[in-house]
Amino acid sequence: MATTTNKNFGLKSEKTPYIGISAPADLSTIPTNRIVTLDEFILRSEKDFVYATGELTGLLRDIGVAAKIINREVNKAGLVNILGVADSGENQSGDTQQKLDVYANERLIECLQNSGEVCAIASEENDDIIHVPPVGSKQSHYIVMFDPLDGSSNIDVNMSVGTIFAIYRRQSDPVGPATKEDFLQSGTQQVAAGYVLYGTSTMLVYTTGRGVNGFTLDPSIGEFCLSHRNMRVPENSQTYSVNQGYYSKFDLEMRRYIDHCSDQNYGLRYIGSMVSDVHRILIQGGIFLYPSTRKYPKGKLRLLYECNPLAMLMEQAGGKALNTHLKRILDLAPHDLHQRCTIAIGSPAMVDELKNFIERYSALPL
Ligand code: AHG
Ligand code: MN
Ligand code: MN
Repeated sequence: MATTTNKNFGLKSEKTPYIGISAPADLSTIPTNRIVTLDEFILRSEKDFVYATGELTGLLRDIGVAAKIINREVNKAGLVNILGVADSGENQSGDTQQKLDVYANERLIECLQNSGEVCAIASEENDDIIHVPPVGSKQSHYIVMFDPLDGSSNIDVNMSVGTIFAIYRRQSDPVGPATKEDFLQSGTQQVAAGYVLYGTSTMLVYTTGRGVNGFTLDPSIGEFCLSHRNMRVPENSQTYSVNQGYYSKFDLEMRRYIDHCSDQNYGLRYIGSMVSDVHRILIQGGIFLYPSTRKYPKGKLRLLYECNPLAMLMEQAGGKALNTHLKRILDLAPHDLHQRCTIAIGSPAMVDELKNFIERYSALPL
């Protein structure tokens, strides 16, 4: 079949106008009988890209390095917190948590700045874009957005947290500085997206628009090793994930859907760290919801740093991601760097089931 350029991702692939139906990467050249490190995998996948100058490869590797550094500190922080509580209370969990948000942010920025593979960065922790000066004569074509530490309130209770990232190709002239518009592209324009989960083991999961692959950090060799090839979310499940404590603040259609989940004896799992909840769903199936509440009428989660990258991953794994107005997350037009949105993401049959409830009840008065 003829190879064409996928406009969304700049990938060499068969004609694939929407990411959800991109052809999976050809993993046949990736050995199954020995350890494949993240670096090797990234290098072997480089040929999938039209713009195979090595920039994106370098960028993904930089993120892998930052993830290892953050992982080291996150692990230590759990230990420090346990000692802090038992000892003098010197290391207050609030302080540590705040420091870790800042620490993760700084390490990511640092790692991305060092190699010059990126021209500008936007982070959940910074009000504005951070311009990255070119390294030597290199002109970078990529911008990166991230949530450096997701679910950071979990740190002080030694539970899972994560890092989420999204990579886009800049649209402005590469000779000048990147512009805000480079960051306000819709999620369909993501070139790559992924997360790192600092859990019982540390995993890096990413997509470049041709399926999803997961790598587990082997601490004995300090490398992320391919452990989850071509991840596919189960088509259906009986598990839902939502902060049900806000039940009375949800709109009618959401309350009806949650009643339905309860009537059907669906299991409820909610960690309070979106990366962890979405990771579980990616592997076991289910639906994650963060709808509108009275406190956050537009939803709490951020479109650019959280929802878009996880929506791309979920679609690439065969799942769906909509807002509660039933718009595909990846099609939403961003207008602000820190814009929030509602989200329903997970197994396709469960997202469809929710869609039916929204269509049936959203017109009724509250
Ligand atoms: P962050 O730590 O980056 O601010 O994100 C926290 C988010 C997300 O990870 C999680 O799903 C959600 O907040 C939990 O919110 P509630 O405590 O309101 O349930
Ligand atoms: Mn977050
Ligand atoms: Mn965060």
